[in-house]
Amino acid sequence: MNGNGRNVGPDEDPLWYKDAILYELHVRAFLDSNADGMGDFRGLAQKLDYLQDLGVTALWLLPFSPSPWRDDGYDISDYTDVHPAYGTLRDFERFLNEAHRRGLRVITEIVVNHTSDQHPWFQRARRSPPGSRWRDFYVWSDRPDKYKDARIIFKDFETSNWAWDPVANAYYWHRFYSHQPDLNFDSPYVRQAVKEIADFWLEMGVDGFRLDAIPYLYEREGTNCENLPETHQYLRELRQYIDAKHPGRMLLAEANQWPEDAIAYFGAGDECNMAFHFPLMPRLFMAIRMEDRFPILEIMEQTPAIPPNCQWAIFLRNHDELTLEMVTDDERDYMYRVYAHDRQMRINLGIRRRLAPLLGNDRRKIELMNALLFSMPGTPVIYYGDEIGMGDNIYLGDRNGVRTPMQWSADRNAGFSRANPQKLYLPIIIDPAYHYEAINVEGQQNNPHSLLWWMKHLIEQRKQFKALGRGTLEFLRPSNRKVLAFFRRYEDEILLVVANLSRFPQHVELDLGAVNGMTPVELFGRAEFPPIGDQCWPISIGTYGYFSFAL
Ligand code: BGC
Repeated sequence: MNGNGRNVGPDEDPLWYKDAILYELHVRAFLDSNADGMGDFRGLAQKLDYLQDLGVTALWLLPFSPSPWRDDGYDISDYTDVHPAYGTLRDFERFLNEAHRRGLRVITEIVVNHTSDQHPWFQRARRSPPGSRWRDFYVWSDRPDKYKDARIIFKDFETSNWAWDPVANAYYWHRFYSHQPDLNFDSPYVRQAVKEIADFWLEMGVDGFRLDAIPYLYEREGTNCENLPETHQYLRELRQYIDAKHPGRMLLAEANQWPEDAIAYFGAGDECNMAFHFPLMPRLFMAIRMEDRFPILEIMEQTPAIPPNCQWAIFLRNHDELTLEMVTDDERDYMYRVYAHDRQMRINLGIRRRLAPLLGNDRRKIELMNALLFSMPGTPVIYYGDEIGMGDNIYLGDRNGVRTPMQWSADRNAGFSRANPQKLYLPIIIDPAYHYEAINVEGQQNNPHSLLWWMKHLIEQRKQFKALGRGTLEFLRPSNRKVLAFFRRYEDEILLVVANLSRFPQHVELDLGAVNGMTPVELFGRAEFPPIGDQCWPISIGTYGYFSFAL
């Protein structure tokens, strides 16, 4: 225990996030304890044993503060409370303590690029005189033609980043939905308010924050209003402030950017501790579909080294669409053609589907993609439900199709809730191929050959080797491009990872000169291997096969 009542287990390593395995979940979607059709903190607390057994080490919770829920909670109307549907602050604290007691860290969200238009700050701003401290909490203009070079992010829903407010008699700036006015970071009061929000949750004991939509904090004429120097300056200030008051916590940047812009969020190791690697994700999907390692090699080679105290967060899917912003136009066309043939599967610049349906429910492909996620440099993030191969519902609006209730059992409402099925916040998946009666935790717990058990094994393996979280990456370049092979090295650990991206078995000769004479110990995979003797090591790998060896 430390002074804040935090008990996060034996390791108080300040770089804990490098060895972490993150699990992203929505309180609303996990377990409903009071039969109102909506998950809550008491329900989530009941499922901590499940998460501990799965083996993940940190939970990332989507926003759970009071909100009119027009953007699933990313439209916050009170930063320092819990939405009554999810329980009380006391329930949150109990959940947090229970998670910490099991050695599970908890990461929450700071969504401060914008608020809900229902937030009292906005209500006050629109009624305050222009130029006043309260008015200046937001970004106003008499004309909607400022900052023309800023792109529109929610292209399917918005036509401008300005919206007219008849109360203020002025336009206000918004990068997302028009009901989400952007806060004005030029205001010292806003910058101070954000620090106070951070203090509130950190004092309670949370282990870190995902910084939502962080590239868009400032606006400057003549720029695209992303990644501005002022944003980095503020992040350095925030990091210093948090480090001084709450050491050992972690900031994770949501910056959907090319690698060279994303690494700017690490600063010189003095901004965010972590940042998502957005461009890698679609390239993993491209590589497995093209049966060619090129997209993965190309993007990793374009990824600059990061400061030693920093770490990428890598993922296959999350609560948003599979974003295709960080690919070329040709690559996007390809991704749409092969992964979203039905128009209904597309939204904004992306694809609203879960992992298993994207991969045609092909167990070997699902295993391979997860294995790659767990062996590329960075901390892996699992999206709730993907550990059992949950399906989606592309007929629900916005991104709701990938946010349906967790499937616990074959019981009513998939064991998620005792409410009338019509009262659930979203319907349970009943698509014949992914029906909750077939795809649920209970069924998979009882079957040692299930995806769930396979994932537990993968997670367990990852924990044995620091090289996976912290090691360097060195690609091998066998002539067969359908095979991806690389070393991960950290101190005296050397791991060799070999993956067949093809739907047919492949033969490959690996040049293992660098580790000649060592005996491979197979960690994961299914095959017989000759000892490493000569420079070239010939092996055959089955359909979508994956092997990793400790050398
Ligand atoms: C979140 C989205 C949300 C948007 C606006 C994003 O970065 O991941 O779910 O709609 O921010 O808050």
